[in-house]
Amino acid sequence: MARLELWKDPWPLDVKQCPCDVHFTSYLREKGLAGQTIFHFGTGDHHHVGLQAPASDHAVIGITATEPEYRSYIRLVTENPHLGKYYKVLFSDIYQINTRLLPAFDIVTLFHLCEFWSENNAAFAALDDKGVLEALTALVRPGGLVLFYTGSFAYDAAARLIPDWAARTGFAEEPGYETLRIFRKPRT
Ligand SMILES: C[S@@+](CC[C@H](N)C(=O)[O-])C[C@H]1O[C@@H](n2cnc3c(N)ncnc32)[C@H](O)[C@@H]1O
Repeated sequence: MARLELWKDPWPLDVKQCPCDVHFTSYLREKGLAGQTIFHFGTGDHHHVGLQAPASDHAVIGITATEPEYRSYIRLVTENPHLGKYYKVLFSDIYQINTRLLPAFDIVTLFHLCEFWSENNAAFAALDDKGVLEALTALVRPGGLVLFYTGSFAYDAAARLIPDWAARTGFAEEPGYETLRIFRKPRT
């Protein structure tokens, strides 16, 4: 029977190997950003971005395709009901994302763009990586941000998609922060 093949192992916070989430929350803090609506690609089992949300009144929806990470989210918000008002997690293959079900965002992180395309899952995909980039960044509000992670193992592939996307959509690159590239949507 057909079956989606997804990443099975929960990902711990390992700032040496994968600092993107910590760089992202430092960026939010340093810029004094509060009350942001955020789509975050790749929660990790640590849920670092979501756990920071209440302190700055952010509303975060994270996506995971890893069953234990979804279970750890359920445990977190059951044990800390306050967190659940600020942090939601969607279990989905990013390539099956249906943006008709999502709101507008102030910030979209695409740290793991191009990492997970699988020919085995292709028959079930709604989008490829270019489609993920187009669809999720279309949800960004005027003046909002999209962030990419230069340390991703698939960054070369993601970087190849960026120039054409930016030229067509008008997203303008801002100074980067640590390992992150940052683009702002035109305000009008
Ligand atoms: C390497 S971990 C990184 C987690 C976190 N951003 C960090 O840097 O610590 C990759 C994340 O992407 C998620 N992921 C893996 N395959 C995915 C897919 N097909 N669709 C959506 N998310 C996926 C995993 O569930 C995990 O949360």
